[in-house]
Amino acid sequence: MLVLGIETSCDETSAAVFRDKMLVSNIVYSQSVHREYGGVVPELASRAHIRRIIPVVDEAISEAGVSLADIDIIGATVGPGLVGSLLVGLTFAKTLCFALDIPFVGVNHIEAHIFSSLIYEDILTPALALVVSGGHTELHLIPEFGVYHLLGRTRDDAAGECLDKTSKFLGLGYPGGPVIDKIAREGDPNRFSFPRAMLESGDLDFSFSGIKTSVIDFFTSSGEDFVRSNLPDILAGVQEAVVDSLVEKLKQAHKIYPVSDIIVVGGVAANSRLREKLAHFCERRGVKAHIPPVSLCTDNAAMVARLAIFLFERNGSSPLSISAVPGLDIIQKGD
Ligand code: KG4
Ligand code: ZN
Repeated sequence: MLVLGIETSCDETSAAVFRDKMLVSNIVYSQSVHREYGGVVPELASRAHIRRIIPVVDEAISEAGVSLADIDIIGATVGPGLVGSLLVGLTFAKTLCFALDIPFVGVNHIEAHIFSSLIYEDILTPALALVVSGGHTELHLIPEFGVYHLLGRTRDDAAGECLDKTSKFLGLGYPGGPVIDKIAREGDPNRFSFPRAMLESGDLDFSFSGIKTSVIDFFTSSGEDFVRSNLPDILAGVQEAVVDSLVEKLKQAHKIYPVSDIIVVGGVAANSRLREKLAHFCERRGVKAHIPPVSLCTDNAAMVARLAIFLFERNGSSPLSISAVPGLDIIQKGD
């Protein structure tokens, strides 16, 4: 069975091909047009998707060594995401399915991130999953794949959004996460301390907007020259606050739900300090950590195709009448 996945929910145009359960190609085009604006400009994102969708799909198909006529199923992201961006990939995928007379499978982007952990390995359930991206920070208990129980989510900014806003404020460009990750490697994470909010809130929710405010306050009180000349230490401190908040809530969740497998996915899961601290925590607790390779943490169509395979085997195809749902939530246990 050959499955084509298409992802266009934000600023990556991506297509991937699976042959049965093996990933055979994954092409990701990251839009650079947003860099000068310090964040994604929705209208520019949809236009860039329109320009790139055909070349990206063509490349994924040819790298897989197949032709479009060989594809058996197409999966595409339905939501959450930017409506104009979602519509490009979704309409493209549905039109191809109609023309080729093959099944279409619509997928949830957050669930697809969770499935990025299943591309190269099998994972036992129950498991805990932390999804950390530019738009979402969510902690789920997974009794079995396809069934999710939301334990906590951010009350304001997502973890990636906090890093992106900090980077934008300091004029370091977009996306902020990889820039901060790189510069922070040269810094001392303990020299400057930034807030770790809600650690004693008694629930498993997160909050990151205080970090950004505290960076602005720090900048105002210390002055630009001081900030510029101490950038690695400051960014290491900011990154440490984000990472500690994530790992601490994961620890609290694991105390309540002592599962043997923990999944961490989404763009921020590419962060080197987070990966290091998670590995340490999981080793100490005797838990298996499942963190995809860096290339599969940020948005990609491989995870979309992987989830489409699972959903097709379980529920069959989705109707072609399905439309983009920008605020789509992951299906909860009992829904
Ligand atoms: O999953 P993703 O590609 O898109 C969304 O679904 O949002 O995540 C993008 C986010 C951005 O906020 C970006 O700054 C962050 O992931 N990110 C990182 C790193 N690479 C990407 N954050 C920290 N460290 C990284 N190495
Ligand atoms: Zn994503």
